[in-house]
Amino acid sequence: MARFEPRLVVVTGAGSGIGRATAEHFARSGSTVICADIDPSAASETVLRITERGGQADAHTLDVADPAAWDQFAESVRTTHGVADVVVNNAGIGMGGPFLEHTAEDWRRVVDVNLLGVVHGCRVFGAQLAQRHRDQPDQRGYLVNIASAAAFTPSRLLPAYAATKAAVLMLSESIRAEMADHGVGVTAICPGFIATNIYAASTLVGGSGAVGGIAQDFFSRFAPGPDLVARHIAFAIRYGVPVMPVTLGAWVSYGTYHFATPLSRLAAKLGNDSGLNRLADLGNRLLGTPTRPSTTSPRHESRTS
Ligand SMILES: NC(=O)c1ccc[n+]([C@@H]2O[C@H](COP(=O)([O-])OP(=O)(O)OC[C@H]3O[C@@H](n4cnc5c(N)ncnc54)[C@H](O)[C@@H]3O)[C@@H](O)[C@H]2O)c1
Repeated sequence: MARFEPRLVVVTGAGSGIGRATAEHFARSGSTVICADIDPSAASETVLRITERGGQADAHTLDVADPAAWDQFAESVRTTHGVADVVVNNAGIGMGGPFLEHTAEDWRRVVDVNLLGVVHGCRVFGAQLAQRHRDQPDQRGYLVNIASAAAFTPSRLLPAYAATKAAVLMLSESIRAEMADHGVGVTAICPGFIATNIYAASTLVGGSGAVGGIAQDFFSRFAPGPDLVARHIAFAIRYGVPVMPVTLGAWVSYGTYHFATPLSRLAAKLGNDSGLNRLADLGNRLLGTPTRPSTTSPRHESRTS
């Protein structure tokens, strides 16, 4: 079978981190990239970075949590550029802290963005790809869903985030066989810690705010950059990989969850209040950073997304 060379690629959350690196990666390979983000200036910045290097890209404003916006977006892409060959459902938000501190609204937002945002992307662009394959059976497509190593790393620190990412992983596994009948491949990408803005932008509830700050400082210095994920996405599309952990830590979690589940459950207990405070102190000493204020609001310690 001929190598799959996407002509048109859609990336959500393309204004930062993994989405931006993925958009730039595909643009370097010759694809036209539709850069969608809830933040219009961030999406435009990515487009500028691509076009300045001679690539082709177009910016769109999209809140992936809005199903009507998805319909308009997909129709506008088809009208202007044709059917997208690859859709990378990347947009996501972080949320951490004790389960009992999460409100119904917290759950609604994280499910709307992290899970339903991916469902809608697969639904509207999957339908276009299936239709094109019926009309032109030699045409294929690909849906890439950005889950996380959290999908198979139970943790008391990330109940809502991990639940949505596990759902994205299972969604991807579940639609894979059906979409294959329509000439569409599906991959769930499961990165471990990657140096992006997600830690700073996360909603952190209960006593987890100080650790959020430490995590941002620590991972921006020591975690691999988002281009690593972009390269794994290209590899997964090329070889039709169903589930792709990225980073050594993600592979260790993947293996532990599947072959030594009790160990995963043991690790899930790490991170109670006193442990978090000790971790924050240790992080501050190691990183030489001042201790961040632990609360900016009575309950939610950081809410920027
Ligand atoms: N960074 C990591 O360590 C890591 C690890 C595993 C998985 N992930 C996943 O990778 C994806 C990208 O995260 P990142 O680390 O690059 O984060 P990031 O915060 O750097 O980028 C996320 C982008 O998504 C956009 N976005 C947020 N909500 C949106 C919405 N409702 N609609 C459209 N766009 C929206 C933001 O504006 C931002 O540009 C997320 O799904 C995240 O859960 C990240």
